[in-house]
Amino acid sequence: MLKIENLSKSYGRGKRKKNVLHDVNLTVGEEEIVGIVGESGSGKSTLSRLIMRLESADEGTVSFATVDNFYASCQIVFQNASAAMNPSWTVRDILKEPLRKMKGDRDAHIREMLEKVSLEEKHLDRRPSELSGGERQRVNLLRSILVEPKLLVCDEIVSNLDRLIQKEIVELIQRLNRETGMAILFISHDLDVVEHLCNRVYVMKSGRIVEEGVKRDGRFSFEHPYSLLLFE
Ligand SMILES: Nc1ncnc2c1ncn2[C@@H]1O[C@H](COP(=O)(O)OP(=O)(O)OP(=O)(O)O)[C@@H](O)[C@H]1O
Ligand SMILES: [Mg+2]
Repeated sequence: MLKIENLSKSYGRGKRKKNVLHDVNLTVGEEEIVGIVGESGSGKSTLSRLIMRLESADEGTVSFATVDNFYASCQIVFQNASAAMNPSWTVRDILKEPLRKMKGDRDAHIREMLEKVSLEEKHLDRRPSELSGGERQRVNLLRSILVEPKLLVCDEIVSNLDRLIQKEIVELIQRLNRETGMAILFISHDLDVVEHLCNRVYVMKSGRIVEEGVKRDGRFSFEHPYSLLLFE
């Protein structure tokens, strides 16, 4: 689905130059749920911006299996659901926006998809401030999956939510993956959630991938001291 090769990125010039990503290599297979973990500032969001073509890399490549319509095949959900939504729009407006090029009945499509994220029609006429944190994150998620992408990049989407809502969102992601075959790149510093959700995980430290962990008997096994420390 996704193949990243020798990706490097820096910000600033001259003395101020800061290398944020160094020679990153990773893959996400079809229908796979892959995790990226690493402490704050390790470059996870920078990597997701490069994947989404919101910024360009200094070196290396990001390639997709399906290139015909990039924006329909690949979508991202950001950390902060409130900041990602226009506060003066209703949920209906927010959800219609990504479908503006869709032919056919957009309202019917939205109604059908609402169910997938356990929201109801009554939510459509509310504004973001009139939703709970969990509902807001589900609207945020729904907005990204309305175009039925092949790959969904989730950047810290459960980080500011309480445990119960986290669980709800994680189950939702699992169900979407199962029912639609959508591949998911799940970026998080919550190791419990990643261990539960993903079969494979990349550990990032200071802009480098230091290890790839594969799950055995429900747990990741690592060798690199940094991964061991992180998961301890
Ligand atoms: N536009 C920018 N200009 C300069 N430096 C930047 C820019 N964006 C990110 N950085 C720096 O790049 C590094 C990686 O940031 P990034 O946001 O990718 O980390 P992260 O792993 O997502 O962290 P967190 O877990 O806190 O979200 C940080 O040191 C950050 O300060
Ligand atoms: Mg980040």
